[in-house]
Amino acid sequence: MSPASQLGAAVLGCGSIGPLHAEALADVEGARLVAVADVRPERAHSLAGRHGVTACSSIDELLALPEVDLVCVCTPSGTHGELGSQVARAGKHVVLEKPVDVSLKAADGVIAACAAEGVVVSVISQHRFDAGVIALKEALRRGDLGPVVLAEARAWWYRAQSYYDSDTWRGTAALDGGALMNQGVHLVDLLIHLLGPVRSVYARGKTAAHKMECEDLALVSIEFESGVLGSLCVTTASYPGAPETLAVTGSSATVVLEAGSVLSWQTDERSAYDLDPGPHGSGPSAASAASAAAGSRHLAVTAHRAQLQDVVDAIHEGRPPAVTGADGREALELVRAAYDSFCSGQPVHVNGAGAP
Ligand SMILES: NC(=O)c1ccc[n+]([C@@H]2O[C@H](COP(=O)([O-])OP(=O)(O)OC[C@H]3O[C@@H](n4cnc5c(N)ncnc54)[C@H](O)[C@@H]3O)[C@@H](O)[C@H]2O)c1
Repeated sequence: MSPASQLGAAVLGCGSIGPLHAEALADVEGARLVAVADVRPERAHSLAGRHGVTACSSIDELLALPEVDLVCVCTPSGTHGELGSQVARAGKHVVLEKPVDVSLKAADGVIAACAAEGVVVSVISQHRFDAGVIALKEALRRGDLGPVVLAEARAWWYRAQSYYDSDTWRGTAALDGGALMNQGVHLVDLLIHLLGPVRSVYARGKTAAHKMECEDLALVSIEFESGVLGSLCVTTASYPGAPETLAVTGSSATVVLEAGSVLSWQTDERSAYDLDPGPHGSGPSAASAASAAAGSRHLAVTAHRAQLQDVVDAIHEGRPPAVTGADGREALELVRAAYDSFCSGQPVHVNGAGAP
């Protein structure tokens, strides 16, 4: 592919996850990193220097660069909607780190701005590209599990207090949310991706072990529109942290994933994939275990690279990306409904989640 047919990609926000986007983009076909930006100019300069690209100290400076076609928004969660809308209004494609935003209004704003400008929007949910998740999705599509009865997702992760103290936005309702909005949204998206839309949730949350505004522990009971029941338990207060698990059981098989790889795959005839990574994964990597314990400094780049490749391919092919803005909104809607349930102590219909 000639450089002229390559998209110029940029990273907005050069903190923990922005550098991983820059690294991933280096290996994405059909795009090349051309610029990075951060309101803390030293972060932009440091990342730009490592990749030999332009450093900007504001979104306006970044969007003024004609060589930028696509921007990965890697800023605090509560800024994604507004910044993503600015990117779209400049006529550039938008990748939003998860969650789409913490507010449904802001999420609707950026989705509408992208539609109005005819640009692609994708929300990062990189674990959809993990081998075990792909295999399980395909098995569910084929009906291999028989009628599904239950799904259970669990993230017993650990973040030290220093994580929440590392910046003023962390753990706040306005810009971050707690363990469910920030960390749990990965599993929320996977549950919806695998089992379909959710009708209602009944949730409890608390701040168990940290000094922070939002929850570090959430228990969510889920009723899918299909009638399947599910549960999600997520915490950042579980020392030393463990890889997340997602289990789906039906009348013909039970599949357990750990950190996106198949841990066990039991059918009525055999344990076909039992502890055999086969084509579905290589078992939880050292990176996923470290990420459970400490966060994105240890995230593997592979899954982000796969999602960014899909976004770039989607732009070149004129099709929607695998993970759309609407997908990001659906996950946010469940989180907001769970937050409503925390407060009311009642089950909440997901499409009835209140503002913001
Ligand atoms: N997909 C994942 O696994 C994953 C992992 C970690 C973080 N994230 C998400 O990425 C986002 C960022 O998280 P982080 O841990 O990198 O945060 P961070 O605080 O380490 O980095 C955010 C950066 O954005 C910059 N910034 C803030 N406002 C800006 C603006 N208006 N213009 C330009 N730069 C601005 C900050 O100066 C900072 O350098 C969050 O939404 C988080 O949920 C996703």
